[in-house]
Amino acid sequence: EIQKRLDEFKLSDEILKQVMDILEAEIEKGLNRSTNSEADLKMLPTYVCQLPTGKESNDILALDLGGSNFRVLYIRLRENEQPIIVNKVFIVSESIMKGTGEKLFSHIANCLYLFMKNHNLDLNRTYPLGFTFSFPCRQLGLSKAMLLRWTKGFSCSDVVGEDIVATLQRYIDARGDIKVKVCVLINDTVGTLMSTAYYDRKTSIGLILGTGTNVCYIENIDRIGTLDPFDDLDQKQMLVNTEWGAFGENGSIDFIRSRYDDEIDKTSINIGKQIFEKMVSGMYLGELVRLMILELIDRELIFVEEMKKNAYRHALFTKGSFYTKYLNEIESDSNTKFTRTKRILKELAGIENLSNEDCAVVKCICMAVTKRAGKLVAAGLAVILKRMNRAECTIAVDGSLFRYHPRLQAVLEKTLTNLVSSLNKFKIALSTDGSGRGAAVVAAVAAENDPIFK
Ligand code: BG6
Ligand code: GLC
Repeated sequence: EIQKRLDEFKLSDEILKQVMDILEAEIEKGLNRSTNSEADLKMLPTYVCQLPTGKESNDILALDLGGSNFRVLYIRLRENEQPIIVNKVFIVSESIMKGTGEKLFSHIANCLYLFMKNHNLDLNRTYPLGFTFSFPCRQLGLSKAMLLRWTKGFSCSDVVGEDIVATLQRYIDARGDIKVKVCVLINDTVGTLMSTAYYDRKTSIGLILGTGTNVCYIENIDRIGTLDPFDDLDQKQMLVNTEWGAFGENGSIDFIRSRYDDEIDKTSINIGKQIFEKMVSGMYLGELVRLMILELIDRELIFVEEMKKNAYRHALFTKGSFYTKYLNEIESDSNTKFTRTKRILKELAGIENLSNEDCAVVKCICMAVTKRAGKLVAAGLAVILKRMNRAECTIAVDGSLFRYHPRLQAVLEKTLTNLVSSLNKFKIALSTDGSGRGAAVVAAVAAENDPIFK
C-alpha cells in the first residue's frame, strides 16, 4: 500500500523523454512571436548580451529581492582584483509581501538608505544600482521591465504591469536623502549565471533551485522571435530567461502530476500557475511530503498508535508545517537509529517513541519527492543543453534547495548524464556570493555608458 503511493512519484527515462519533448515544443512556442502569448514558457529576452570580462570597474549598489532573503549589497569591482562585497539581509515581512506595492517599494528604498548610512557611503554621490528582481518581467531594455505576474509568496497590489525600474527609482528619488540610479534589472538566474561566468567563461546556463525554480541560458539572437528590432547588430547572442516554473499551466504535464500536486495547487495563492515550480522547488517540497504523510495517516499505514492518542492536536495537520529543510536532515539520517527524523517529528508534532519502521517510511517519502524534483530539473536542463549543443558548458546553480540538500546534486548529475549525449559535456557549479556580483557587473557596464556617471 505504501509502495503504491511512493510509486506515484516515480519517473522512468521514457516518461522523462516525453516531458523533454513537450518542454522543447513549449520553448519554441515561447520564442516565436506569433505563439508567445499562448506559451507557458515566456522565454523573456534579458538584454544581457555579454559575459563579464573581468575588466568591469566601479562601486555599485545592488538589491536582491525574491528569494528567501532580501539583501542590499555594495560591490567594489576593479580590474584584476577580487571584488569586495558587503551585504546585509533585511526582513520583508509577510504583510509586505502580500500588501500594497507602495508598502513594498518604500520599504526597499528605506532599507537602501539605512544600508548606505550604516556603511558610511557618500550620500552626495550618485551610485549605480543593479536590481536582481526574481520575478517574470517583460523587458524592453536593461532598465525597463514590466512585471508580468508575482510568483512564490508575493502578491503585492498595483505592481503587475508596472515598470519595476521606474517604480523603484520614483520611491528612491521621493526620499530626497540618497542619490542612486537604478541602471539595470536582472532576474536571479541571470545574476547567478553572470556571477559564475566572472570566473568561468564556459558558463552558459543559470539555474535557480530555491524558493522557486527557473533557468536562463545563452540563446542566438536570430532565434528569439519576440525581440523587437534590435539595433545592436554586433550582438549575436542574448541571455533568455525561460521562466520555466510556469511549465505545465496548459495541462501538458498533467500525466505526471499526482493528487498531492493538485492539492498544493488548489490551496496556493496562485491557483493554476507555476505548475512545474510547484513540483520542484523549495517552497513546495516539504508540503508535498506532508500531504503524503497525511494520506498514509488517513489510511492507517503510519503513526497508528500516535494517532489514537493525539490526533487532533497534531501540528502535521497544519498547512506549511513540514519545512523543506527537514528533507535535508531526514534524507541524511542514519538508517538504523533515525535520530534526526525522530527529533524533527518530536519537535514538530510531539510524537514520542516513533518506530524505526515509521521513520523509514518518512525517509522514503522525502527521497521520492526529492528524486522526482531532481529528475524533472535534469530533464529540463537536458533540453537546454541539447539546444545549445556546446562541447562544454558550466551550469551555474544557486538557491537554498540545491545548496543544502544532501543528494539533489547527485540525482541531477546522474539523470542528466543519462539524458544528454557525451558530446555535450557539462559541469554543475554552485554559485558563490549569490547573484550580487552578477548584478554588479551588468550595472557597471551600463553605468560606463551613462553620462550621469561621467
Ligand atoms: C540567492 C540569490 O543566492 O539565491 C538570489 O542571490 C536568489 O537572487 C536566491 O533569488 C534563490 O534562492 P532562495 O533559496 O533564497 O530562493
Ligand atoms: C520564480 C520566478 C522567477 C525566479 C524563480 C527563482 O519562478 O518567477 O523569476 O527566477 O522563481 O527565484
